[in-house]
Amino acid sequence: MNRIIIDSEAIKDNYLKVKRWVNDHGATLTVVTKALCGHLETIRALADMGISSIADSRLQNLHEMTDQNLGFEKWFLRPPSQSELEEVVNLTDVSLNTELGTVKKLNLIAEEKGLVHRVLLMIELGDLREGILPGALVRLYNEVFQLANIKILGIGANLGCFSGTVPSVDQLMQLILYRELLELKFQKDLHVISAGSSVVLPFLLEGQIPSAINHFRVGETILLGTDLINGGTIEGLRDDAFILEVEVIEMKEKSLTPSGETMDEIAPFSAGEDQVPEDRTPGQRGYRAVVTVGGLDTDITGLVPVNDSYQIAGASSDVTVLNIGDNPEGLRTGDTVCFKMGYSTMVRLMNNSYTDKVMKSSI
Ligand SMILES: Cc1ncc(COP(=O)(O)O)c(C=O)c1O
Repeated sequence: MNRIIIDSEAIKDNYLKVKRWVNDHGATLTVVTKALCGHLETIRALADMGISSIADSRLQNLHEMTDQNLGFEKWFLRPPSQSELEEVVNLTDVSLNTELGTVKKLNLIAEEKGLVHRVLLMIELGDLREGILPGALVRLYNEVFQLANIKILGIGANLGCFSGTVPSVDQLMQLILYRELLELKFQKDLHVISAGSSVVLPFLLEGQIPSAINHFRVGETILLGTDLINGGTIEGLRDDAFILEVEVIEMKEKSLTPSGETMDEIAPFSAGEDQVPEDRTPGQRGYRAVVTVGGLDTDITGLVPVNDSYQIAGASSDVTVLNIGDNPEGLRTGDTVCFKMGYSTMVRLMNNSYTDKVMKSSI
């Protein structure tokens, strides 16, 4: 069976570095765990690292963390659906919200339970995912301040999560100005300005983030080391915390170009090289390894062979084909091949029941 090998030491190295950058800025960090899809051994490892605040977008994952009693402060990342409200109040310490009607219902539920639920109100700053439109801010805060069983923690924004808009210092300044406006208008403190996800970290390292931004919610860069602005991995971070291991089920020397006319519609799961490389000559042959991961398992375009001389030729629903040149290592049927991966590929693999998840420390 395919397996994803999880190195908690690599996650810890990344976490400690990101935490230091965030703390040096005078801010606090909540680690976004949704990509772990509730994998308990990794989540326990996070608790052992001293992580105290986590955010997840699925209540099922938060349920399991609650059952395990790991002592995390738990944030619910996705604005809650109507069917989730009771559990949100029961399970989470903070939820991110954008809809007045939803916050009012959270208030009623919290009141029934004799609890105070904390919320972060999220503002739309150009990414066009969820967020309160700036014109509606004052009215909404005014109403939410009246709710006895809701405490507003502060103000937040998603930058670059949806439409890929590159965050700008101007957007962050806008967020800070909204906070000042609301504090002045209502004479209340809004302690938290939460603006950071992985995409903001390269700007933090360049010293471009205003000091008033005091909370970061980070997933991808802690888990995979990704530099979302410059590409590749942020210097000093590790990109090997999650490695996919699959098996070679066929190994043959073949032609490197298909014969006959090709049409994308015929191969709905095709992934890999868009075009034949320029240095390939007609009729050229080479070794091809067929391995046991396909589009049914994950997004193949985010797989990167650890052996950088291997190239992904393409994939179907069940298998991926690798060009491995002259096969200098003598790769054979039954051998394994390892891949690093991008975030969307990793999330899908973590959520895929055909892939085992094992801790490196237990192998
Ligand atoms: C609301 C919210 N905040 C923070 C994050 C973390 O983003 P990233 O994994 O890019 O750090 C996400 C995405 O997972 C999110 O939806």
